[in-house]
Amino acid sequence: MFTGYCIDVFTDAINLLPYAIPYKLIPYGDGTNNPSGTELVRLITAGVYDAAIGDIAIITNRTRMADFTQPYIESGLVVVAPVKRMNSGAWSFLKPFTRQMWGVTALFFIVVGAVVWILEHRLNDEFRGPPRRQMITILWFSFSTWFFAHRENTISTLGRFCIDSLISSKDPIGYQQGSFTRDYLINELGIQKSRLISLKMPEDYAKALKDGPRNGGVAAVVDERAYIELFLSTRCEFSIVGQEFTKNGWGFAFPRDSTLAVDMSTAILRLSENGDLQRIHDKWLIRSACSRQGAKLEVDRLDLRSFWGLYLICGIACLVALLTHFLMMVRQYIRHYSPELDSSGQSTSARLQTFLSFVDEKEQEVKSRSNRRKLEMASNRNESMDNHSSKRRHIESPPDASNEA
Ligand code: GLY
Repeated sequence: MFTGYCIDVFTDAINLLPYAIPYKLIPYGDGTNNPSGTELVRLITAGVYDAAIGDIAIITNRTRMADFTQPYIESGLVVVAPVKRMNSGAWSFLKPFTRQMWGVTALFFIVVGAVVWILEHRLNDEFRGPPRRQMITILWFSFSTWFFAHRENTISTLGRFCIDSLISSKDPIGYQQGSFTRDYLINELGIQKSRLISLKMPEDYAKALKDGPRNGGVAAVVDERAYIELFLSTRCEFSIVGQEFTKNGWGFAFPRDSTLAVDMSTAILRLSENGDLQRIHDKWLIRSACSRQGAKLEVDRLDLRSFWGLYLICGIACLVALLTHFLMMVRQYIRHYSPELDSSGQSTSARLQTFLSFVDEKEQEVKSRSNRRKLEMASNRNESMDNHSSKRRHIESPPDASNEA
């Protein structure tokens, strides 16, 4: 008697066939080591078996040897590693970033708020008022960008990112004995054979991960998601890091051009549509408490290095905006105030104070005051010219001529 997830799927599917198929299940392997799935498929082509039933991933070099049914489960490769699990609480939202990253982020929000305040202060009534209100405006402006600016979703490539960093490290990586994963890691990802550690049982995974790379263990294990979900269901101290980085599924293998492969595919689709496939999955592969969080938790933390380019661009943009604003203000100040300053003989500190109150003034007010002043000066000039010319006429004309006039 053989029992298990794959056997249940097989017997339920074969019972749905419109004809009877007598079959005999023969165990494959020595009962101690995990046998190779690819070798099992090869034994079909060699005529040793009529079909192969089991957790056989449908991969290219196997489909060249045999015909596969539709996949009855999806099970791409994932990376599993030890995690320091923190309790979820009110401050869990801070966890994605390091402290340093949060510090610089907060600083930049305030810097950007201050720059916007400087740029808006002279033009926009909402950035004016008592100093306390303006402080609140700066902080509120920075804070509100968190919630009002983001409209697009981000799609994570962390799965890819995570396996890339694993590849570039020198740490040992565990894989399931007999699985196609070893060939995939060597041939597709270019990982050195010497870094790969073969592991048999879930207990071996746990020990190797706990020991870690410095004590003869591994930094991570790469295996198919279906196995890892089961492994994590009782081991909350480990977690999948990132997401699936390949798309695979398991199927049953039959000799090339076998009509049975087609009929079994139809039966598997029916099992999927009537919910039986899910029921069998839940019976064998969903266990308990930490399977959900364990399987889905992502532990990638971003730090300052991941963002310094962004902050550099932001800093340069702020600096250019501030410089332009400052130069424009100085130009305006010189245009509006230089005639008065030249004649007033003010001290440097008084001039600085005048400049600061000019900076604080609303641009519209400066312009209208300056226009008023120009008009006043023009009318004063006219008046003095009138006086001057009447005096001249008075001096130039003799008393009798003046009388005549
Ligand atoms: N699921 C393991 C393999 O197909 O090699």
